[in-house]
Formats: sequence, C-alpha cells, structure tokens
Amino acid sequence: MDFSQQVVVITGAGNGIGLGIAHAFIEKNARVVVAEINANSGNRAVQELEAAGGEAFFVQVDVADEPQVERMVQAVLEKYGRIDILVNNAGVVGHHLITELDREEWDRQLAVQLTGPFLTSKHIARHMIARGGQGKIVNISSVSAVMGRVKGGSHCVSKGGLTMLTKVLAMELGQYQINVNAVAPGLIDVPAQRNEDNLSSEYQNRYLKEVPLERMGTPEDIAQMVLFLSSPEANWITGQLFLVDGGLMAGHLSFQGVHDFAMLYGH
Ligand SMILES: NC(=O)c1ccc[n+]([C@@H]2O[C@H](COP(=O)([O-])OP(=O)(O)OC[C@H]3O[C@@H](n4cnc5c(N)ncnc54)[C@H](O)[C@@H]3O)[C@@H](O)[C@H]2O)c1
Repeated sequence: MDFSQQVVVITGAGNGIGLGIAHAFIEKNARVVVAEINANSGNRAVQELEAAGGEAFFVQVDVADEPQVERMVQAVLEKYGRIDILVNNAGVVGHHLITELDREEWDRQLAVQLTGPFLTSKHIARHMIARGGQGKIVNISSVSAVMGRVKGGSHCVSKGGLTMLTKVLAMELGQYQINVNAVAPGLIDVPAQRNEDNLSSEYQNRYLKEVPLERMGTPEDIAQMVLFLSSPEANWITGQLFLVDGGLMAGHLSFQGVHDFAMLYGH
C-alpha cells in the first residue's frame, strides 16, 4: 500500500487512535492533515509526525461547528489542492446513567461524534464530487454502535447513528466512486483510557475477560483496517461497519467456559 501524493484529513488526530492512524498513513507516504480542536495536541502531533519523516499540517477545528469545518476544508485545499481521504475520528468521553446525564453532555457527544462526521463528510464529499469523484471516507465508530452499555447513553446513540450515516453516505456517494465505511474498535489502549477517572483498572480487567484475544487493542490495530479501507484494494466495499475488537462481539466468554457448559447441558 502506498498513499504518495494523497491527502488524508484525520479529525481528532492530536491524540490516541487518530494519532496512531496518522502515523500509519505517514509510513505509507500520505500527507496528513491533523484536524484537531486542541492546538497543543495538534501542534505536538505535527512535530511528532514530521520527526517520523512525514508531511503533516495542523488545522484547528471544532468538527461540530459548520463554519469552522468549512474553513478547515478551505485551508487544506489552499495548501494541498485536494483531499483524497477523510477519517472521522474525533471523540469526547462521557459516562453517565441516562437518569443522571446532563443535556449539555448529551448534546456535546452527539455534536462531536455524529454531527461532526456529517459536517466534515458533507463539505469534503462536495470537493471530491467537484473534482470528478473518487475518494474514501472512514468513520471511527465503536462496539458501542451495536452493543448497549450501562452509562453509555449518548456515546452508544452517537455511534449507532454513525452506522446509519455511513450507510446513507455510501448510498448517495457510490455513483461518484466515493467509498464510505466504518471501523468499530473495542477497548483501545490510549492515554485517555488509562485515566482512572475515565475507566477504572477493575473495569478494564473485567472487560478483558470477555475478549478472546485477551488484550486491549492498540491504535495500530485500528489503523491497519483504516489503511485497507482507504486503499484501492477496498474499491468495491462500501456502507459497511467492521468490528476490530479482539473478538469481543463474537460471543460471551463468561457464559461459555467448561463449567457454564456443564451447567447448561447437565454434564
Ligand atoms: N479508545 C477506545 O477504547 C475507543 C474505543 C472505541 C471507539 N473509540 C473511538 O475512537 C475515537 C478516538 O478516541 P480516542 O480514544 O483516541 O480518544 P482521545 O481522547 O485520545 O482522542 C480524541 C481526540 O479528538 C479531539 N477532539 C475532541 N473533540 C473534538 C472536536 N469537536 N473537533 C476536533 N477534534 C476534537 C480531542 O482533542 C482528541 O485529540 C473516538 O471517536 C472514540 O469514540 C475509542
């Protein structure tokens, strides 16, 4: 796989999974746009990517704000003249029971994780269509798109909506040879996840007991699927959600051990 001359816009690429995806594209010679709300993270990411020998460009943007998204797209087109690939990755954390969930947190999570991909896709797809078609859009979803989770309200709902946005975009953009797919990670080892205020180590240990491949994922695990879906090898794949979760969604390990089996079948 080689992405020479191609321009990839990655939202939220200042940290975590987005930064991992940026590194993977740099290794394959793409030019990476770090479309990030946090200036410190964005500038640091560009330094890191350049130190790795790549070409990267930071544009500060809140993906939930349409004028800012339009300005970001304009800035990229002024610098590079083209956008070939969009990765909608920006996300915000929030864990509350629905009965305790503030309206502000609900609104913000949907704004960043659902309205954001709508706005970036809208303006970048317009550019892809205007230049004659072809392009790839990859949405970073979550297993929370297909699995309800306690305290996951606004997160699960935003990712569930992102699945349908992926399908509708695929239907509308297929005629222009623009592929739109989503990648659903399981639990990924990023600095934000190691924060005890976010997910306790007890939660992580219990979660890992349900993962057949017995480890958290890495940004690199997700990046490899994003690279594939962005490549010509995936030209006939669109409108799909791909689980990259160490096998989490294959079944419930805790109900299928030898003892559970004996309990269920009486031997
Ligand atoms: N880490 C996991 O275990 C995991 C699992 C499943 C899905 N995901 C998804 O992967 C994506 C990345 O998550 P992460 O764990 O790397 O998180 P992270 O917090 O490490 O990175 C998210 C980045 O998005 C940026 N961002 C937030 N709001 C933004 C906005 N309005 N506009 C532009 N940038 C914004 C943040 O500043 C940050 O740099 C998210 O969509 C998340 O839901 C993560």
